[in-house]
Amino acid sequence: MKIKAVRCVYFSPTGTTKTIAENITQGISPESVEMIDITKRQQRNSQILSGKDDVVILAAPVYYGRVPEEIIPYLTSLNAERTPVVLVAVYGNRAFEDSLKELHDIAVDAKMIPVAGGAFVAEHSYSSKTCPIALNRPDESDIRKAQEFGVAIRKKLQNVKSLEDLTAFTIPGQFPYIEPVNLNMIKKARSVVALTPETDISKCTQCGQCADVCPTGAISSDDVTQTDRWQCLICFACVKICPEDARQMNEPNFQSAIQALQQNCQDRKEPEIFL
Ligand SMILES: Cc1cc2nc3c(=O)[nH]c(=O)nc-3n(C[C@H](O)[C@H](O)[C@H](O)COP(=O)(O)O)c2cc1C
Repeated sequence: MKIKAVRCVYFSPTGTTKTIAENITQGISPESVEMIDITKRQQRNSQILSGKDDVVILAAPVYYGRVPEEIIPYLTSLNAERTPVVLVAVYGNRAFEDSLKELHDIAVDAKMIPVAGGAFVAEHSYSSKTCPIALNRPDESDIRKAQEFGVAIRKKLQNVKSLEDLTAFTIPGQFPYIEPVNLNMIKKARSVVALTPETDISKCTQCGQCADVCPTGAISSDDVTQTDRWQCLICFACVKICPEDARQMNEPNFQSAIQALQQNCQDRKEPEIFL
C-alpha cells in the first residue's frame, strides 16, 4: 500500500503529545502531512479525515488511565471509514492503563482500520523543578523510538496490497475501562474547593499567555485571576507556559498527591509499541 498523506489529530495541552506525534509522522515520511491540533475547543471542527492512501494518527495524553474525557465527543464524531489509523497514548511515567485500548475502540467504532499502537512516556504535566516526574522527556531515546515506530508503520503498510492483508495485533487494556477515580473525586470536591491553578498577582504581568493556552477558555482574558472551576481540566498548560511562574496549584491535598505521585513514578518506563 502507498502512503500519500498522514493526518495527525492530536490533543496536547503541554506539548509532549505533539512532539511524539510529529516524530512518528517524520518516521512514516509521507508525501504530505496535515497536523490537526484539537487542543482547544474552538479548533475541533472538521470531522472528515478520510482520503485515498491516507493514514490517520490519533494521539492523546493519558488522563486518569483513560483518553481525556474532554476530547471523546470529538473523537467519536470522526468520519474516517476504512482509513488506516495509528493510536498513540502519551503518559507521565505512571501508567497508561486502558487509554490505548479506549483510543483503539473509538477508532474501530468509527470504522477505521488500526495498524499500530504506541504508548510513549513524557514529562508529567504536574512535574516541576521542585517535584520532577519524568523531567525533560521525551528525550533523545524517546524521540528515536518514536521515529523508528513511524518507519515500522510505513513498512507494515508497504508490505501489504490492501488493508485486509494487515496482520492483527493486540493492544493492552480492559473493557470496562478503569474508573477515573481521581477525576470523579475532583468533580465532587469542586462544589467545595475550586481545584484550579491560581494566579499569584505579585508575580503576574498580565501577559495573558495562560488564558491563550487554556484548552477550554477557563481563564478569563480580561482578568486572568479568574478561572472557571467547572471548565478547568487541570491540564497545567497555564502553569507550564507562565514565564513568571505565577500560576500555581495551591490546594494542599493536590500538592501532596503530586508529591506521592513523584515518589511512586521514579522508575523509568520505556515506550511500548504494538504492531
Ligand atoms: C488530568 C491529568 C491526568 C493524568 N493522568 C495520568 C495517568 O493516569 N498516568 C500517567 O502516567 N500520566 C498521567 N498524566 C500525565 C500526562 O499523561 C503526561 O504528562 C502527558 O505527557 C501530557 O501530555 P501533553 O504534554 O500533550 O499535555 C496526567 C496528566 C493530567 C493533566
